[in-house]
Amino acid sequence: MLELAGLHYQPSTARQAVLEQVDLQLKPGKPVLVAGRSGCGKTTLLELISGLADPDRGRILWNGQPVSGRQRRWLCGLVFQFPERHFLGLTVGQELKLGRRRLGAEDAAAVLQRVGLGSLSLQQAPERLSGGQQRRLALAVQLLRDPKVLLLDEPTAGLDWAVRAEILDLLADLARERAVLVVTHEPELFAPIAGEAWRLEQGVLRTMQLTTGVGT
Ligand SMILES: Nc1ncnc2c1ncn2[C@@H]1O[C@H](COP(=O)(O)OP(=O)(O)O)[C@@H](O)[C@H]1O
Ligand SMILES: [Mg+2]
Repeated sequence: MLELAGLHYQPSTARQAVLEQVDLQLKPGKPVLVAGRSGCGKTTLLELISGLADPDRGRILWNGQPVSGRQRRWLCGLVFQFPERHFLGLTVGQELKLGRRRLGAEDAAAVLQRVGLGSLSLQQAPERLSGGQQRRLALAVQLLRDPKVLLLDEPTAGLDWAVRAEILDLLADLARERAVLVVTHEPELFAPIAGEAWRLEQGVLRTMQLTTGVGT
């Protein structure tokens, strides 16, 4: 289990704290949601959890032990909202190998199938994919790494309905065996699969009641 306790974060360039007092526990079961309006700090929270930034105060524990940023980068898989800024491979095949260096053709095909990119050529250039396809490719790379904690930034933004349903099923399935945290501005979409849901407001997480059926 990953546990955040009393996290506080104010980047030196920010006028006020982005996160004031964040407590959160992530464990296998169902995806946990963090919702909130644009600019409320959702992406920043993922950066702290995944070890891309360190909190100024508070603790991050894995199974009760404090974990460094480096350890968190290993434990966590982060799927960015705009993964094209982070792609390194010249082809889909190369990009997948960043997740697992010795990747056979069968495993590559299987992971692409799993994220709904079954028809994609391994020779395709990642930057030629649509935004939704790029996010699913980034998810495939993280699945190959098999992280203990999977973090997704706006995983359904810009996807069409059929693909959204597939992604929800996939996330529900993945959450059975690892902690999954989704940050989103459209939390109702995740109501059918979500465990706990939180709203991030002025740096604090407040519990949130999800209404099912909206937009589905
Ligand atoms: N390194 C930073 N320096 C200055 N401000 C930052 C930094 N990181 C985040 N912020 C500020 O924190 C707030 C939350 O940003 P972000 O986490 O991207 O929100 P969200 O993902 O919910 O839209 C924004 O007002 C942003 O300007
Ligand atoms: Mg964001």
